Amino acid sequence: MPLRENRQVRLVARPRGIPQAEHFSLVTEPVAAVGKGEILIQNRYLSVDPAQRGWANDEGNYSAPVPLNTPMRALAVGEILESNAPEFRAGEFVYGWFGWQTHCVAAPDAVLRRVQPSALPLSANLSLLGINGLTAYLAFHGLGDPKPGEHVLVSTAAGSVGSFVGQLAHIAGCRAVGLTGSAEKAALAQARYGYQAMINYRDSTDLPAVIREACPEGNDIFFDNTGGAIADAAIRTMRLHGRIIQCGTAANASWTPVPTGPRAEREILTRRLRWSGFIIFDHIAEFEAAATRLTEFALDGKIVHDEEILPGLEHAPGAIAQLYRGDNHGKLIVAVD
Ligand SMILES: NC(=O)c1ccc[n+]([C@@H]2O[C@H](COP(=O)([O-])OP(=O)(O)OC[C@H]3O[C@@H](n4cnc5c(N)ncnc54)[C@H](OP(=O)(O)O)[C@@H]3O)[C@@H](O)[C@H]2O)c1
Repeated sequence: MPLRENRQVRLVARPRGIPQAEHFSLVTEPVAAVGKGEILIQNRYLSVDPAQRGWANDEGNYSAPVPLNTPMRALAVGEILESNAPEFRAGEFVYGWFGWQTHCVAAPDAVLRRVQPSALPLSANLSLLGINGLTAYLAFHGLGDPKPGEHVLVSTAAGSVGSFVGQLAHIAGCRAVGLTGSAEKAALAQARYGYQAMINYRDSTDLPAVIREACPEGNDIFFDNTGGAIADAAIRTMRLHGRIIQCGTAANASWTPVPTGPRAEREILTRRLRWSGFIIFDHIAEFEAAATRLTEFALDGKIVHDEEILPGLEHAPGAIAQLYRGDNHGKLIVAVD
């Protein structure tokens, strides 16, 4: 049998701040032999995630950065071609840590979920049923504790996670207001993602006043994906006993030196707020139940999932920077073929 080729996108230089195309290189090598207990996966779709900034550089991390000259750490969905592990068989589709490459030889613990057959496209396993939809569902319900009639504010509302939070808030009977960086994305989020009002934060000279105006009754839940100036203003709109979910920090391009801003502790104290950090990988045991619920919502027409699919592995190197420019329309995915 001819040797199979593995095309990889390797991290070749350590970025400061946001990784750019020049920090990566495309390399071809033979697919590694499948050892005892291992599986060989052929990737079909690769995920592009804001968290890859923190996996590529070594600032503000909670895990070790990707070693140089190795495939970029990434979630992917693919088909098992060979299995030497008793719990998997060839032909199954799986979602997990398979990297930015065409093929991956992995131990079974690299798999986060088996793809369940449904009418949804395979790529939905990286968006609605990947960490974006799962984060929206598990963080919003687990930490937000939403009740009908409550007021919800969401940053990066037109992005992948934000699009699902708006729709889940709507399903929960809440009034959701979102923030995004363009008029076009604001209109999209209001039309498709359950938001009753949207704020274009790039278009505002007095963000605190604009947020107060859009949320005249204050907010019970702030689902924050940016931190920075948006969070500084949003915290001051929280109602008594409000819940802040710290899900991302997209507004801070670098943690060296540590950014500074207005102090929040007086707001936390006087408004009796609960401010919780959320990391999706603490919740792997809940993935299957959440994915089942999200699939039902999608098949019942209650949730839409928008994806922007880049055609080919060669588009991966520039994709993280594209995400941070806000140029993505829905979940950014790279198709391998
Ligand atoms: N905690 C977890 O376990 C977990 C899991 C998944 C995702 N997340 C976080 O959730 C957030 C959204 O992730 P996603 O995958 O759905 O990406 P996304 O929202 O589809 O894309 C990222 C968005 O961030 C916004 N952005 C970029 N730079 C910004 C800045 N300086 N200020 C404000 N907004 C900026 C852009 O939207 P605009 O055009 O609207 O600015 C961009 O489209 C990220 O912060 C990510 O790290 C966290």
